[in-house]
Amino acid sequence: MTTRAGRAAAGSQGTDPTWYRDAIIYEVHVRSFADSDGDGVGDFRGLTQKLPYLAALGITAVWLLPFYPSPLRDDGYDIADYTAVHPQYGTLRDFETFLHEAHRRGLRVITELVLNHTSNQHPWFQRARRAPAGSRWRDFYVWSDTPDRYAEARIIFKDFETSNWAWDPVARAYYWHRFYSHQPDLNYDNPAVRRAILRVVDFWCALGVDGLRLDAVPYLYERDGTPCENLPETHAFLKDLRRYVDARYPHRMLLAEANQWPEHAAAYFGDGDECHMAFHFPLMPRLYMALKQGNISPLEWVFERTPAIPENCQWCTFLRNHDELTLEMVTPEEREYMWREYAPDPRMRLNLGIRRRLAPLLDNDQRRIRLLYSMLFSFPGTPIVYYGDEIGMGDNIELFDRNGVRTPMQWDASPNAGFSTASPSLWYAPMISTPPFDPAHVNVADQTGRSDSLYHFLKHLIILRKAHPELSSGEMRWLQTGSRSVAAVLRIEKNRWLCAVHNLLDAVQEIELCFPQAKGSFRDLIEGTLIYHADAGRLTLQPYQTVWFAGTMDQG
Ligand code: BGC
Ligand code: MG
Repeated sequence: MTTRAGRAAAGSQGTDPTWYRDAIIYEVHVRSFADSDGDGVGDFRGLTQKLPYLAALGITAVWLLPFYPSPLRDDGYDIADYTAVHPQYGTLRDFETFLHEAHRRGLRVITELVLNHTSNQHPWFQRARRAPAGSRWRDFYVWSDTPDRYAEARIIFKDFETSNWAWDPVARAYYWHRFYSHQPDLNYDNPAVRRAILRVVDFWCALGVDGLRLDAVPYLYERDGTPCENLPETHAFLKDLRRYVDARYPHRMLLAEANQWPEHAAAYFGDGDECHMAFHFPLMPRLYMALKQGNISPLEWVFERTPAIPENCQWCTFLRNHDELTLEMVTPEEREYMWREYAPDPRMRLNLGIRRRLAPLLDNDQRRIRLLYSMLFSFPGTPIVYYGDEIGMGDNIELFDRNGVRTPMQWDASPNAGFSTASPSLWYAPMISTPPFDPAHVNVADQTGRSDSLYHFLKHLIILRKAHPELSSGEMRWLQTGSRSVAAVLRIEKNRWLCAVHNLLDAVQEIELCFPQAKGSFRDLIEGTLIYHADAGRLTLQPYQTVWFAGTMDQG
């Protein structure tokens, strides 16, 4: 048995320091995946039992949503204790076993570092509100006598909050919160806060986690006369954090959750000395827009606007996650368009977004679901798959907040869907129960057993992604096709290239396709059929079809 210190010194498993550049990340909530002890709540033992499933899908890293002690008023993003496991999900030992088993299978583990705020139940906050004004303990959080400071800061949870200040009757002062009022923001001007957060980093890195998602990272500092986002002080802190981690824990990855325009999100890479990764929020809605409009303009626009990033960095890209499909990074007109087209029922809308899952957003049309996955996997960035979306699970807009996209994983067609042996009335959330998304129609057992399923399609894309390094870090070029309704990209690295073509229309399209790298004839890597002769320079695309073909420069 290796000791904790021994594991930390050895670094995370594997020897590739830039493993995240060609990872495939699976995002999962412990509580939603598998319940091992029959209490209706998923847990670490259940998740550990399902590792073979994840390994078989081919993903290379697991991103765990918050699993720490919490009153769960923001599904665990309201942390009451940073260095323990919520008893519902198991023990710290269970977590360690999970981590060990994941590593044994070659899977890396990314956990949440919710560093901007805590729960108001956190002992730090309880201590702060009782401590004398101006003291080091009080100043763990951001206080004010009036609620009008920092008025330029926007409100993020618009459907729930009307101010970023809340009155605390014990402290007899207002405290600052960018999210729910039960989530007070930590005060990064206080060196004791910065040290306390580094202790949290130490705790999880020493256990061996491979990466930390820095939740809500743009909001760490507040300054008068600014929107209180992306401030220089925040970037300075992140550079310190990076130096700290690099010096102690080799090969760990920091992922910035900065829901920002590309140039602001890219700033979280620094000069390769801040975060290793950052989510590409603006790309996501434009994938949906391009598909609905049958036009590549939104995609061209967003890639045009995306700056080059340092060599050792990588974007994280995604179609859906545990939150609403955010429409913060689009224009007001585009937002109206997205709401009209993808959220016709007002209950589908939340804050500035859409609280639906991938498959229902696309009317369960398997062609369009595959098309979006194909774009995700052939465009730059490390793709993330949200649990359940590999089998096209549905959502439940009757549930509060974002809970409708966080329902139990559907393993089989049995009444309990293989999630738990507890009576469903005891579950943390109801199963999706209406066709076509109920477990009778959508479940893992069916899809793993059927070669034409979405699961197998995605698994195939993952295999291709791994076999073609040009998809991870190669340069991307748009190819002219004579049609604005076809997204054709060429990914090139060294002497390798891969061409991915997407028909955004529900109609057959005949396109022209010529590029000097292609010589001879090519088979579609997805269907295996012969599709393209470079001499003819033409390609026929079926409605919503996607084709990939690849070659090397010295060929032909
Ligand atoms: C997380 C949300 C959470 C919020 C506040 C976000 O960025 O993704 O799920 O509600 O941070 O912690
Ligand atoms: Mg359980």
